[in-house]
Amino acid sequence: MDNNTVLVTENIKSYYVLDVGGSKKVVKAVDDVNLTIRKNEIYGIAGESGCGKTTLMKTLYALMNPPLRFMGGKVIYYRDDQEIDILSLSKEERRKLRWEYIAYIPQGAMSIFNPVIKLKETYRDFLDSHLSGKTRDEIFEIAREHIKELGLPIKVLEAYPHQLSGGMRQRVAIALAGLLKPAVIFADEPTTALDVVVQRGVVQLLKDIQESLKNTIILVTHDMGIHANISDRMAIMYAGKIIEEAETKEIFYNPLHPYTRFLINSLPKFGDKGVRASAPGNPPSLANLPTGCPFHPRCPEKTDICTREVPELVQTGEEHKTACWLVSKGDE
Ligand SMILES: Nc1ncnc2c1ncn2[C@@H]1O[C@H](COP(=O)(O)OP(=O)(O)OP(=O)(O)O)[C@@H](O)[C@H]1O
Ligand SMILES: [Mg+2]
Repeated sequence: MDNNTVLVTENIKSYYVLDVGGSKKVVKAVDDVNLTIRKNEIYGIAGESGCGKTTLMKTLYALMNPPLRFMGGKVIYYRDDQEIDILSLSKEERRKLRWEYIAYIPQGAMSIFNPVIKLKETYRDFLDSHLSGKTRDEIFEIAREHIKELGLPIKVLEAYPHQLSGGMRQRVAIALAGLLKPAVIFADEPTTALDVVVQRGVVQLLKDIQESLKNTIILVTHDMGIHANISDRMAIMYAGKIIEEAETKEIFYNPLHPYTRFLINSLPKFGDKGVRASAPGNPPSLANLPTGCPFHPRCPEKTDICTREVPELVQTGEEHKTACWLVSKGDE
């Protein structure tokens, strides 16, 4: 491991284990994912709804509640030459690691706010539990400074979460996540459900925080346009697996997996009024995956082997990995 690495996962598997009318149903939401995330980068994760992006974020943050179960693998953080296996930490140790070293902005963001208290009290709770020994006045001063830096009016501190617009709430959530200068910030769909102009502000805020902290942001969004804008490297997820990973430019200029090509072609292009081609058919049920490559039933380029064997994610370029028989057994 070089000292440029902040997070590594080894073959992680997280499944929802459900009891359906007496029989067990297993949803393989994250299935054998290996990631190496670097310091000082925005790492993007894209993929259709239901492919496992949020479950992957939860696993990296060790937020596992039934029916979600960690089935195996490792999630290791690197902190000052220390290796931290987050899933083997005690509750107290995990609490310390969270927000101070890794912060999580959940999908929808609403759940990090307490709906019945004003924002200034949210700041107070947050800072009280992480920075001991500050007086009430000192805490409000930090909160005021912080709100000012964000370019938000001071009066938002007197507001309840539901009184903020979606975009403002999202910006406050992101700003709170950055308050303790964590090494890693997870942002799950931070721009979904916002209109385009507001989206731009949220993306800019993420960019600004990353640039000032020089930390790592793991950004989940199905919106490829946003990845093109701010992700340095990115992974494409399909049916619980990473099927392609590369620098974002490489993903857009040299996509190797047919599914990645569909995602890129579904983006509107300037001046092009033609019909956008999205991937045909529907994503598979993660409780009942097809044999072979999980994308094969929708793949226009499938061959015989694709229907039988699962392709591994293998190196297909210097900084490029792909899980597709078309490229890993190209000469057959
Ligand atoms: N609590 C749950 N119980 C059972 N299955 C679940 C649960 N939460 C998620 N799943 C299933 O796990 C799979 C992955 O879900 P996940 O929320 O991680 O996907 P996602 O990529 O984040 O989707 P989206 O883009 O819609 O947010 C889906 O098939 C989903 O139906
Ligand atoms: Mg999600």
